[in-house]
Amino acid sequence: MIVGSCRNLSLILRRVGRINELALFKSCRRLNHNVVNSVNMNSNQTGYSPHHLKKSTDKTKNALKRLRKKTKWDTTDRTSRESILMYEIQEALSIYDRSLNLESIRNPDDLIEKYLFNNTRPETLVVDVTCIYQTAEGDCLAIIPKESYITKDIDRNEVENKFTVLKIPKALEGEKVNIRILRHHHYYAEAALLSVSKKSKTSPVRNDSLILCEKFDKCSGCQYQMIGYDDQLALKKKTIEKAYRMAFSSWAEYIEDKEAFGNVVGSPLQYAYRTKITPHYSKKKQMDKSLLNIGFNNVLGNEGVVDVQSCPIATPSINKELSAKRQDIMKSLASSSQDIVDFRESRKSQDITLLLRDSLDVNHSTGEYKNVCVTNGKHVVTQQVDGCVFQFQGSEFFQNNNSILPLVLEYIRYQIEQCNGNLKYLVDTYCGSGFFGICLSKDMPDNGKVFGIEVSKLSIKYANHNAKLNGLSIPKDIEFIEGTASNIFSNKSFLDSKVEGNDAIVIMDPSRKGSNDSFIQQLIEFRPRMIIYVSCNVFTQARDLAYFFETSKNNGVHYRLKEVTGFDFFAQTKHVESIAVLELK
Ligand SMILES: C[S@@+](CC[C@H](N)C(=O)[O-])C[C@H]1O[C@@H](n2cnc3c(N)ncnc32)[C@H](O)[C@@H]1O
Repeated sequence: MIVGSCRNLSLILRRVGRINELALFKSCRRLNHNVVNSVNMNSNQTGYSPHHLKKSTDKTKNALKRLRKKTKWDTTDRTSRESILMYEIQEALSIYDRSLNLESIRNPDDLIEKYLFNNTRPETLVVDVTCIYQTAEGDCLAIIPKESYITKDIDRNEVENKFTVLKIPKALEGEKVNIRILRHHHYYAEAALLSVSKKSKTSPVRNDSLILCEKFDKCSGCQYQMIGYDDQLALKKKTIEKAYRMAFSSWAEYIEDKEAFGNVVGSPLQYAYRTKITPHYSKKKQMDKSLLNIGFNNVLGNEGVVDVQSCPIATPSINKELSAKRQDIMKSLASSSQDIVDFRESRKSQDITLLLRDSLDVNHSTGEYKNVCVTNGKHVVTQQVDGCVFQFQGSEFFQNNNSILPLVLEYIRYQIEQCNGNLKYLVDTYCGSGFFGICLSKDMPDNGKVFGIEVSKLSIKYANHNAKLNGLSIPKDIEFIEGTASNIFSNKSFLDSKVEGNDAIVIMDPSRKGSNDSFIQQLIEFRPRMIIYVSCNVFTQARDLAYFFETSKNNGVHYRLKEVTGFDFFAQTKHVESIAVLELK
């Protein structure tokens, strides 16, 4: 399909040369409870009996051991998922009942082992649970008394005045929902949403007719298809506010524009925008071809892969290829038993991940181009953004929503324009294949220069290639350095160029884990006129900025937090990118 024609693009490229649960729930509904109720299925229905419990003790202990290992909480890193959830659980507790504390909801090992573990606990359905707190992962938290569902053979002291925090995917704050309780962890239990008994009257309001994906209720890829786009952006703003409240509590001391803090710029494309997806399948399932699911993890954790025939947030060329790939895999399975033998012989690598990446295929003689899909991580992907062309190896990082990138660049350009003084240098740290540096090089003065630094050798190779593709002169206009970001400040070429912080803007765009103390300390010493921190994890961004502002203040260096703005790179999902702009006072 020809989607565009651009002689310019061709010229540039040529220059370098390449849920049956509902039935159970309905019977539960007939009981017509208004408050929290549980339905404990009798022993015949669930296979549950004291005898069964005894027989399964060893099996249970082993499974418990595995569960504990799997759910070991990493609280050493205060921005880990576990630490964030713990923070959110405490916020939810204070909303539910201020007199409750972590001890009121803790599930000690022996309680889990005796009463709560899946294999020994009767299936539990609970109706009309009130959702009170939206998490950054897009789930909703609800709190219920333990007495309401742990009713069998238990010492009352273990449950009286004790509560369970439920984490319910795809539920919304303000809703009353019917759920099935799944695994118990030390401070919460996972639950499956069966149905919504009462919609919320305030935003976000559920509107299931907005859902485009037929697998939305099961797939872990998207969280918010059931709400309008403005409500999605409002939830993401709350995530930014939460991250800063949690990891950078003093942010308000430094911010200039409190009103706009955390506002989120929407994506021009809210579906069909995603230029890369990595669905997977389990070789194990190849034992029975009819069970082969190719797609993404089930939202309920260890319930396997959800078969996704078409992903509405991915681009059309990706979906076309996904369908072709599925047929190829099925055909190869039908024609050969080799894979089954392979699986039996090699139990190690049971999961296979596919790469599907949108790319441009350019006809150099006509200048026409079409969107194709690259599936080999070693093949070259071509993208065009903001009049610049980028090539990179399929396995390497590149931004995944081309529709929003021009808005991001426009925002950064506006910040640069607003920055007083004679800016000469742009320092693009964590530069990947050169996206920001190359697009913004034309915004630097003639005697200016862009420096980029990146730890991946392959990305640096492509950054240099992309600079040439886009007609930039190396090293006069732009120079890419391979190394860890903090090395930029001691790099010979950087030092030889006598780059002064006063003449420079530093862009930092680290991966999800954020930056580190060494980089931040040297950044403060360098004193750039402006710092633009682009982040795909607002919690690590807030943590890094807390460190930055505390350290700079202690060293007599004063920055203002000019703005923090969200960008919705991943519409329909929980993710939000955030750009923080810091200016030297
Ligand atoms: C979120 S990507 C951003 C890439 C680029 N700015 C872009 O927009 O395409 C983060 C990049 O940081 C790189 N990276 C990770 N740790 C690094 C480090 N310590 N020093 C330099 N680069 C690093 C990764 O290889 C990756 O390319």
